[in-house]
Amino acid sequence: MCKIISVANQKGGVGKTTTTLNLGTALALEGFSVLVIDLDPQANLSGYLGFEGDEKPTISNLMLSIACSQKIENEDFESCVRVSEENKISYIPSDINLANAETYLMNALSRETVLKRVLKQEYLEKYDYVIIDCLPSLGTLLINALTASDNVIVPVQTQKFAFDGLKSLLQICNQIKDTLNRDLKILGIVPTMTDNTNMSRTTLEMLEKTYPDVICRTMIHKSVAAANSTEQNRSLCLNKNRLGDEYKALAVELFEREVC
Ligand SMILES: Nc1ncnc2c1ncn2[C@@H]1O[C@H](COP(=O)(O)OP(=O)(O)OP(=O)(O)O)[C@@H](O)[C@H]1O
Ligand SMILES: [Mg+2]
Repeated sequence: MCKIISVANQKGGVGKTTTTLNLGTALALEGFSVLVIDLDPQANLSGYLGFEGDEKPTISNLMLSIACSQKIENEDFESCVRVSEENKISYIPSDINLANAETYLMNALSRETVLKRVLKQEYLEKYDYVIIDCLPSLGTLLINALTASDNVIVPVQTQKFAFDGLKSLLQICNQIKDTLNRDLKILGIVPTMTDNTNMSRTTLEMLEKTYPDVICRTMIHKSVAAANSTEQNRSLCLNKNRLGDEYKALAVELFEREVC
């Protein structure tokens, strides 16, 4: 059965999109079939994959159909999926229309479950993992992602203000667990952009102390290779480099956590 993982943190610029793509390719290199979904109107994941827009529908079309009580069939879902041969993953892009989702979801019946109804297991049969790149907000789209997911991964930048909002995100995860999705599991908090500064070390120590059960032992160091990979539309895992190796190690660690 396909596992759905949300990569979430309402704080901006912490490495959600970078983690989604590179974890996706790392899992693909382990032999898994992976679909990544861009659930952010900024469409950074789509851009990272070199998507420049086309005539086909995107995640916002699927969400809108369900929100308007229209049925979607397997072929509708399939028509939204693109393939990035180079990065070894399939993906559903986003577009700016997703910015209207908060508005049209307001009037939708069972508005928190719209994405869950888009991601029917029968449409996901050929995938081992679906990874959702969430937007930096605590709104309805994030709640949709968490309601549709089995697992959540939280990238946290080991810098000043790292703890800002983390508590409220984990509280929301627990509320969703108590109400809309009792199977939701926090798979891991991933320290990102770590470096040799005292600030980074202290933040890491505090994260380890505060969240000992969910903090990942794999951390992602700060490196310009991350920005370069977005320009090249190419996962860090495809070249020999430190960040690529770290994302591969993270995939193995998260896989072990998930099956335990
Ligand atoms: N390990 C890293 N080292 C250095 N820079 C990084 C690293 N990871 C990501 N970056 C850079 O930091 C910026 C933010 O990363 P990213 O887009 O992945 O964050 P995000 O959480 O998805 O942001 P948003 O909240 O806007 O969606 C990007 O320019 C990215 O290239
Ligand atoms: Mg992003």
